[in-house]
Amino acid sequence: PPRVFSGIQPSGDLHLGNYLGALQRFVRMQDEAYEQTVFCMVDLHAITVWQDPKELAHSTRELAAGFIASGLSPEKSILINQSQVPEHAQLAWIFNCVARMGWMQRMTQFKDKAGKNAEKASLGLFAYPALMAADILIYHATHVPVGEDQKQHLELTRDIAAKFNHDYGVDFFPLTEPVIEGAATRVMSLRDGTKKMSKSDPSDASRINMTDDADAIAKKIRKAKTDPDALPSEAKGLEQRPEARNLVNIYAALSDQSVDQVLAEVGGQQFGAFKPMLADLAVAKLSPISTEMARLMAEPDEIDKILARGAAQAREITAPILQKTYDIIGMVR
Ligand code: TYM
Repeated sequence: PPRVFSGIQPSGDLHLGNYLGALQRFVRMQDEAYEQTVFCMVDLHAITVWQDPKELAHSTRELAAGFIASGLSPEKSILINQSQVPEHAQLAWIFNCVARMGWMQRMTQFKDKAGKNAEKASLGLFAYPALMAADILIYHATHVPVGEDQKQHLELTRDIAAKFNHDYGVDFFPLTEPVIEGAATRVMSLRDGTKKMSKSDPSDASRINMTDDADAIAKKIRKAKTDPDALPSEAKGLEQRPEARNLVNIYAALSDQSVDQVLAEVGGQQFGAFKPMLADLAVAKLSPISTEMARLMAEPDEIDKILARGAAQAREITAPILQKTYDIIGMVR
C-alpha cells in the first residue's frame, strides 16, 4: 500500500524553498489517497553539524508549528520528531553495514557540506544518507516528496533497499519513488539565480523566511535581483534568465498555476509591475502561516503532546518492521 514519508531538518529558519519545495506539497499529499502520510523533523540529521542545544529544541518545536500552521493535521498525518522514534536510528545502523563507502563518497551534498577539509567532517555527516534511507524504509514508504536537491539521496535509498533485499534473498524493502513535482522543486536565491535558496546563505536578503513579516517579505522581493527586460509570454523566453525564471516559478507555485498560465497573465510586464504582485501574493499566502506559527509557539506543551502522540502512532508501524528486519538478519531476541 502506498505510504508517504518526508522530513525537514530543524536547523535554522524554514524558508520559502522548504515551503514550496516540500511543505506545501506535503499538505497536498496528505489529502490524497495514500494509506498513511508521515512527516518528520529530523533532529538526528540536524546534529551532523553542531547545534546549540537550546536552539535545536526551539527549532524542532518551531518546525512542528510550521508543519501544523501550513496545514498538516495530526488527525490525518503522523507528525514526529525523529529521535522520539528510536527505530529510525536502529535501522540506520543496519544500513551503515549495507551501504558502501564508495556510494557515500559520491554524494554531492556531503562534498558541499564537508568542503575541502572532509577529514574534519563528522562521521554522521558522511553516513547521513543511510539514516535518511532508514527514515523512509522503516515505514516501507513508497512515495517521498522532496525538492530537487534530495534526488541523489533518494537514488541511494533505492540502492540500499535493493542491496539489502539481494544480500538476504528477500523482497522486503520497497524501491521508493521520489516525488519531485511542480514549479518550485528548486527555488533559487533572490540575490543570485544560479544558487539555491538555502538557510546557510550568509545573506538574509537571499531568502524569504517563514517567520518574516509582511514588510520584510515585500522589501526582499522589491530588492530581488532581476534583469532589465520585460517578462516573456512563454516559458521558453525564461531559459537564459535565471532570476526572472525563479520569480515566475515562485509566483506559479504560490498561486498553484503552471509557468505558462502565469506568463499568459503577466507576459509583457516589467518587473516594476510584477514584483508588487508577487509580494502581495507571497504576503497573502505566508502571513497567515507565520501568525499561526507564533500562536502555536506560545503553547509549547501542546506541541510536545502532539509529537508524543505522533511517536506512539509511528512506533506501531516501525517496531514490527524493525523486528522483521532483525529476524531476516538472524539476530536472536
Ligand atoms: P532539508 O531540511 O535541507 O530541506 C527540507 C526540504 O526542503 C527542500 N528544499 C528545497 N526545495 C526547493 N528549493 C529549495 N531552495 C529548497 N531547499 C530545500 C528539500 O529538498 C527538502 O525536501 N535530507 C533532508 C531531510 C530528510 C529527509 C528524510 C527527506 C531526512 N530524512 C527522508 C525525505 C525523506 C534535508 O536535509 O532536507
